[in-house]
Amino acid sequence: MKIEEAKHYHRIDAVIVGAGLAGLRAALELAKNNQEVGVITKVYPTRSHSGAAQGGIAAALANVAEDSPELHMFDTIKGSDYLGDQDVIELFVNESIKTVYEFEHMGVPFSRTGDGKINQRPFGGHSSPRACFSADITGHVLLHTLYEQCLKYQVHFFNEFQVFSLLIKDNISRGVVAWDIRNGGLHIFHSKAVLLATGGYGRAFKISSNAFANTGDSLGLILENHLPLEDMEFVQFHPTGLYKHGILLSEAARGEGGYITNNEGERFMKHYAAEKMELAPRDVVSRAEQTEIIEGRGINGKACVHLDLRHLGHSKIMERLPQVRELALNYINTDCIKEPIPIQPTAHYSMGGIPANTKTEVIRNVNGEIIKGLYTAGEASCLSLHGANRLGTNSVQGAATFGRIAGESMSEFTKSGSYESLIPDPLDQAQKKISQLIDGTGKEKHAPIREELQENMTRYLGIFRNEKDMLIMKKKIKELQEKYRQVAIDDKGEVFNLDLIEAFELRNLLDFSEVLIEGALARRESRGAHYRTDFPKRDDEHWLKHTLSWKTETGVKLDHSKKVIIYWDRFPPQERKY
Ligand code: FUM
Repeated sequence: MKIEEAKHYHRIDAVIVGAGLAGLRAALELAKNNQEVGVITKVYPTRSHSGAAQGGIAAALANVAEDSPELHMFDTIKGSDYLGDQDVIELFVNESIKTVYEFEHMGVPFSRTGDGKINQRPFGGHSSPRACFSADITGHVLLHTLYEQCLKYQVHFFNEFQVFSLLIKDNISRGVVAWDIRNGGLHIFHSKAVLLATGGYGRAFKISSNAFANTGDSLGLILENHLPLEDMEFVQFHPTGLYKHGILLSEAARGEGGYITNNEGERFMKHYAAEKMELAPRDVVSRAEQTEIIEGRGINGKACVHLDLRHLGHSKIMERLPQVRELALNYINTDCIKEPIPIQPTAHYSMGGIPANTKTEVIRNVNGEIIKGLYTAGEASCLSLHGANRLGTNSVQGAATFGRIAGESMSEFTKSGSYESLIPDPLDQAQKKISQLIDGTGKEKHAPIREELQENMTRYLGIFRNEKDMLIMKKKIKELQEKYRQVAIDDKGEVFNLDLIEAFELRNLLDFSEVLIEGALARRESRGAHYRTDFPKRDDEHWLKHTLSWKTETGVKLDHSKKVIIYWDRFPPQERKY
């Protein structure tokens, strides 16, 4: 199909895919640099999943206790179980202070200390109260503020558009092709620079705190373009997901002093992390909860423990944790002022993603060679800031800070660069995917395949992993991919065809899950969120390295030669105890 046949053709300096914190912060930076910028997003911007981040944004402001970027750096490195790249972490901690003050100047309504400074609360794995917060709706207020700023600076929004293909040729990005969900039809976005900021991949799991939209779409597109993903085996399980629903109940609840207890009312964290207790990092607390459940100390024999906030009292809960209370009230009719809330670990954050350098340029091999004009930031990316385990509130900060850095890098590039010619027949790849689903005559439906994927990923690739389980899942994913080839959709129309979008999302879910499973199978050690009962120790001798993975005709190809960047004289790997 030729350009003339596209319903729309847009020529824009920079295109951002995704309207969460990373995408909007990058868009704002480009717009402030007088670059024309278009944001393509499959949900309305203020519904992006960044809005669900609750507890805070990390920065060593030292407003309520002693702190320093150096300490923030150490905590992040230790939290990452020494897999985080230390050059990235150093850049991050230094830039994060500026990021918070920028937000303050944009008008973000941060909660304040008595003397008017931005208030900061404790969070897991941080050794000083570092989470700048706005009650427990921090992501929400940041996202809304950024969206307003983007409107003020005349960023163009293409809301409810789904990107179906990346236009890459000769290692140069030339734009994207997207489907207009509301009206139907394909649009070509011809641009000098593209940012992939589509968020994480938590929807591969059944119990997940992630929005329905978090299906790792740009990860699927990267794999399709024979490009690698990095460290996909590292999936964070957040300790306080609402039982059975998986909805996030902020770690702020523990930062404010909440307890986690078992069926005997015992604060069992004393057996797992005696010093930090409930404020150990998430991998540690989630494993502790799961162990309590497995060993029969779950509440009423169920797969849950309790989050107990009663001792915090009415006024503190209403001031600091109103959303936590509202969520438990609305979904399970439990008032945390009077009773404990049943919780369980929930798939929350994707440490793996699209590999990029510190300028957020997407890299295509272990030598760090880039795809010219292609960038990534936020949870879709792997820089690797969080290594094997992310600390709470570092993601909101990572998205905003590297969103800004992406905007700076892209502006520099778009100001000096010119439009590359489009690939021949730019619509073909997207059109083929759509036609296969709409015109297909197969008998399979996408919804049951997605459900089977999620059930099995939670069961076999969850908090505790072992080779036997993962091999079962490896076989299962092949079966599901085979079934997917027979998927046809019922809705043959163009307007608001969510049948089409969901079927496309499933393709991405299956593709990156295959890569995730292979990465987890290959990594024969336990590090951060990747815990193997058959290899329970961290193995720095063999595994202090990243995983790059490609999808090829013959299966997944892995490469482990990308070294972790470590400042051996400052932060050499140590045993990780809390
Ligand atoms: O628990 C929370 O408020 C989540 C924050 C985060 O993931 O950083």
